[in-house]
Amino acid sequence: MTKARSLSVSVKASDEDLAALGEYALRYVESGFTVGIGTGKAASAFIRALGRSGLKIRAVPTSEGSAELARQYGIELVPLKGALDIALDGADEVDPNLDLIKGFGGALLREKIVAAAAQYYVILVGEEKLVPRLGQRGRLPVEVLPFGVELCARRIEALGLRAQVRLAENGNAFRTDNGNVILDCVIDEIAEPARLERELAAIPGVLGNGLFVGTANEVLVCAPGGGVRSLKRRDARKMH
Ligand code: A5P
Repeated sequence: MTKARSLSVSVKASDEDLAALGEYALRYVESGFTVGIGTGKAASAFIRALGRSGLKIRAVPTSEGSAELARQYGIELVPLKGALDIALDGADEVDPNLDLIKGFGGALLREKIVAAAAQYYVILVGEEKLVPRLGQRGRLPVEVLPFGVELCARRIEALGLRAQVRLAENGNAFRTDNGNVILDCVIDEIAEPARLERELAAIPGVLGNGLFVGTANEVLVCAPGGGVRSLKRRDARKMH
């Protein structure tokens, strides 16, 4: 499962870099689209750009925080119904296959549903999120039903991972927007992400995990100080 960790050093994208990335991503959106909007700093930069753009779109948010931000910018929100024209989100890790780890912000479950509903799924990141193999940042979030948390932790440990209940600032268990608990799995480099995604998904009580394998169509990477490059995959899994 694990190999020695080799951390690459790259400069974290600044707020200005992410704002420029959010503006750049507008070229993927047309008036009339229904757009899935992600959660986190990069996704928020995109939501702000979208709100300022004047594009007439409808949006499906992946968290209460993103919904609130979109409302502040006058973006119309709709429930998830049918396919989305596109969804744009951030990520915590991106590997050379464009497989992802997401969920450090705790919104992975709705993010995965929105990703599955999107006809085209675009990820927005700074260069510091690019890793040679998933697992470099040492954490894989898993959302579980509170009722099953102990069983889920034991089953996860049987897979060779250590699972820790994520805590909120007040010391209580962090609760997701769905009222669930996050188990942060302590990981090293993941040898077979697709297999681990399936194994975690098969545990009763696990509602979602932060591995997004074969999901992203395109990743937009901003360089520190400006410039965006696009990485594309042609065989992203789309299930609708
Ligand atoms: C939220 O649960 C996450 O999946 C975020 O999309 C991810 O953590 C990236 O967030 P930042 O853009 O804030 O790094």
